[in-house]
Amino acid sequence: MPHNYYSGEKAEIKIDGQVYELPIIVGTEGEKAIDVRTLRAKTGHIAFDPGYANTGSCNSNITYLDGERGILSYRGYDIADLAENCTFVEVAYLLDHGTLPTREELSEFSRMLNDFAMIHEDMIRFFDSYPPKSPPMAILSSMVNSLCNFYPEMTENPLENIDKMSARLISKVRTIAAFSYKKSMGHPVVYPRYDLSYCANFLNMMFDSPVKPYEINHKVVAALNKLLILHGDHEQNCSTSTVRMVGSARVNLYASVSAGISALWGPLHGGANQAVMEMLENIHQHGGDFRKYVERAKDPNDPFRLAGFGHRVYKTHDPRSRIIKQACDDVLDDLKFADPLLDIAKELEEVALKDEYFVERNLYPNVDFYSGIIYRAIGIPTSMFTVMFALGRLPGWIAHWKEMWDDPGWRISRPRQIYVGPLSRPFIPMDQR
Ligand code: ACO
Repeated sequence: MPHNYYSGEKAEIKIDGQVYELPIIVGTEGEKAIDVRTLRAKTGHIAFDPGYANTGSCNSNITYLDGERGILSYRGYDIADLAENCTFVEVAYLLDHGTLPTREELSEFSRMLNDFAMIHEDMIRFFDSYPPKSPPMAILSSMVNSLCNFYPEMTENPLENIDKMSARLISKVRTIAAFSYKKSMGHPVVYPRYDLSYCANFLNMMFDSPVKPYEINHKVVAALNKLLILHGDHEQNCSTSTVRMVGSARVNLYASVSAGISALWGPLHGGANQAVMEMLENIHQHGGDFRKYVERAKDPNDPFRLAGFGHRVYKTHDPRSRIIKQACDDVLDDLKFADPLLDIAKELEEVALKDEYFVERNLYPNVDFYSGIIYRAIGIPTSMFTVMFALGRLPGWIAHWKEMWDDPGWRISRPRQIYVGPLSRPFIPMDQR
């Protein structure tokens, strides 16, 4: 059970000459917070924090993130160690169970992932009803929501079934993602195979075809594992907070995750990986002049932002982007894939990192800046990039939903507001307006 402790210190707040004391709580890594839970009852005031940048919404023991020092760990394990030594399935187990799996636990978890890999045949027909060019994130979100109709396992205490539901979701989302791609191409779907690992199976479902069998490339499988691990969790980001908020109304796991997928879709969040690639392609097609884009990003009168740059929490290098940049070099090298977009990305990064505008605002490349180049090298189309992110983030969403459900301090999420609309006024009948 996640918990913090009271340090014994108190914060004082003075309103209209009266001093109120609020306790200070501390997390295991020393992060401090003022516990404002009694603020309104004691003072009649609320805390005003649009965008929640100063608001701790929960205790959590899943992911630690230090944006000043560029540290990220899952369940206490450094992200670089996990990316170097684990498969995505091991990390998914770690996120959802709290410990790295033993050999036996991993094999049982993998068996469940295999057993649950199919989706109901009736669901496969759903794909035929979406108009051509439907955004894959919209399809993914609605298909995941539909899972509760086919697998209605939400009992009064869903935690009794959580291992089964998690494995089902992690396995089926992979199948749904690959099927949606095949359907978008007008190609027959490729069913999951029992003999392939999680990532190899996904790649096979994506790229195998009756006329051209897919050859599994272990370097590509390793790169995909790494990318999914790096996206596994990132504490209370927009989509994860959405999963928690929706779940706080005691809605089922599938519906909560479906809402998280919708949040991730946004170009300021997971959709940034697609936006980066479109930006780099645009630069390439227009002669490679990236400086124009840097200038546009700096112009206060232009809404354009450099995709893949900046982060709400990191005020230094995103530790994931360093690992991804290295992986990008390795994969392109291994596959002998010369991508002019990688050269543009590197030059653009170098220029932006020296530019006063970006330096002053602590804007560094984030996880999305290089991930798209790897996806492109392994054959994933741009329209599927954010779906790939969702695949990686899923174990994190599940871990947070589970933690939220199990938290004895749980309350339905219900922020307050400061009303700034019109004061009470007399109703005007229709013919007098
Ligand atoms: N390009 C140019 N300027 C930027 C950028 C950018 N990518 N990001 C932030 N800024 C500027 C803002 O204009 C603002 O400038 P100002 O102080 O002169 O007004 C300042 O930096 C602070 O920006 P905020 O919007 O206040 O920062 P916030 O924490 O709210 O936003 C966000 C963070 C959404 C990630 C932002 O940096 C952004 O839009 N980046 C581009 C999209 C992106 O890459 N998103 C992926 C994030 S990682 C993820 O979700 C997986």
